[in-house]
Amino acid sequence: MAITILKGNIVSAPELGKLDVTEHGYLVAGDGIICGVFAQLPEQYAGAPVEDCGDALIVQSFADLHLHAPQYPMLGTGMDLQLLDWLNTYTFPTEARFADVDYARTIYRQLAAELISGGTTRVCMFSSLHTDATLVLMEELEKAGVTGYVGKVNMDRNAAPGVLEETTEESKAETLRWLEACGQFKYIKPMLTPRFTPSCTDELMAFLGKLSAEKKLPVQSHLSENQKEIAWVRELHPDCTQYWETYAKFGLWDDRTLMAHCVWSDARERKAMKDAGVTVVHCADSNVNVCSGAAPVRVMLDEGLKVALGSDIAGGDHLNMFDVVTSAIRTSKTVHVRDNWETPFLTVPEGWYLGTSAGAAYFGEKPGFAVGNPLHAIVLADDALPQPHPLTPAERLERCVYRRQKDAVRAVWSAGRKVYSAE
Ligand code: GUN
Ligand code: FE
Repeated sequence: MAITILKGNIVSAPELGKLDVTEHGYLVAGDGIICGVFAQLPEQYAGAPVEDCGDALIVQSFADLHLHAPQYPMLGTGMDLQLLDWLNTYTFPTEARFADVDYARTIYRQLAAELISGGTTRVCMFSSLHTDATLVLMEELEKAGVTGYVGKVNMDRNAAPGVLEETTEESKAETLRWLEACGQFKYIKPMLTPRFTPSCTDELMAFLGKLSAEKKLPVQSHLSENQKEIAWVRELHPDCTQYWETYAKFGLWDDRTLMAHCVWSDARERKAMKDAGVTVVHCADSNVNVCSGAAPVRVMLDEGLKVALGSDIAGGDHLNMFDVVTSAIRTSKTVHVRDNWETPFLTVPEGWYLGTSAGAAYFGEKPGFAVGNPLHAIVLADDALPQPHPLTPAERLERCVYRRQKDAVRAVWSAGRKVYSAE
């Protein structure tokens, strides 16, 4: 068995709001699977090579459960419109460029490298509607060491005519062609991706629901992000009382479904998510940038919903998950004040849990560096930050979340493999 041993200050999130700390400890994996965290190295591993990370922190790597790969070229621009106008004006023309696979290769290679060097090793990602560019994206992610799911986007109505659109027949046929080609990947799997209800005809939604059941494919989409979007969905589906029902009625609603945003989901819609086991992907930056609102993420946790985090680039302006965690914490405080200080807000250990363990749970992992999990870890340095007095490992992690040193991520392990080293 190939043994990996990392020595350093090991900090993990075994439950919401709690950090486990082992100073100068050992994180051991066998064939890429975690065997344990130990204060002293057990006798059985004596003689195995130890990767000594010095005084650095060793933490779980991130899971980004909602982002749009073909929006990477517009990251940090086009922030002056609300969601629906933003889609038509900036997003659809940007995604249209991915008809060109050479362009896709260049952009997606950069994106994959930036994900890995930032410590994001698991993703659930939207591609564009282009099958070939989607396969290029999957290839580049896999080569870089990213794991997770990617979806060819389905959008057979209300798209950008002549620029970015597909007929219902094309959407169905291309989805099947794409699924056929996905068998070549080991770490990146397909996920069905109706863009959102306004983008998909009933016929296409029904097709995707049936396909999801037949091939046991998970589903990702957007839900109750923006009030104009919600009003539009109501016009499109007068038979549905609430937005979520437009997914549920076509079989796109179960315990592997991811729904991004859920800013305006009321208690009834949230209960429907809880009952079905749907995971909410909270995208705090994007919700502010395209003027959607502030999701009551801490309330959702209290209600027992599954919640993870997404960068949602390029509605979100930060790909880096340290920033995504701080945005989630800040937003929760805005909601706390808005609610007359009556709802709780996220603490740093809670935000950290959401960006790591909660996202990893979607991939079947237990929280923290649990025995049996594949090794997904970051070696995190803060030695170039001011060191006016000693800090505990938990304080150091808090400071890394809010204030990283340049090149803080020194090394990254993904599914047991060392995929990045800053050296
Ligand atoms: N709803 C439908 N498409 C999108 C998208 O690309 N970004 C966001 N934030 N919301 C959407
Ligand atoms: Fe999105």
